[in-house]
Amino acid sequence: MLYEPKFYKCGVCDAILESITPHCCDDLTCCGKPMELLKANELIALEEKHLPIVKREGNNLTVCVGRVLHPMSKEHSIQWIEVKSKYLEQRITLKKGDDPIATFEVPENVPVTVYSYCNLHGLWKTMS
Ligand SMILES: [Fe+2]
Repeated sequence: MLYEPKFYKCGVCDAILESITPHCCDDLTCCGKPMELLKANELIALEEKHLPIVKREGNNLTVCVGRVLHPMSKEHSIQWIEVKSKYLEQRITLKKGDDPIATFEVPENVPVTVYSYCNLHGLWKTMS
């Protein structure tokens, strides 16, 4: 069974930690304060610009964040895109001015969960 990772965010410095085992405790702290457990977003009103859209061609898996491309400004941007399967995990960090698009190498027919993180609107995920 695919382990569902947990993502935690520091409300002070905006650091994000990901637990990669199911045994992570939920009382993580950063900057002297408890970290917030992030939940994948399901706000339909924001989905058009945030939900990762997955396109597969052979072993190439391309992720485009949003049916309408998400903004990539200094104030509002997709910070990273991550692809996770039972045996692999790949993450690409984006910066201001990049398109919110990333290509990963994933064997075809391997099911994946894809995450994207917006600095203002949080964590999003889709399965492919
Ligand atoms: Fe956003």
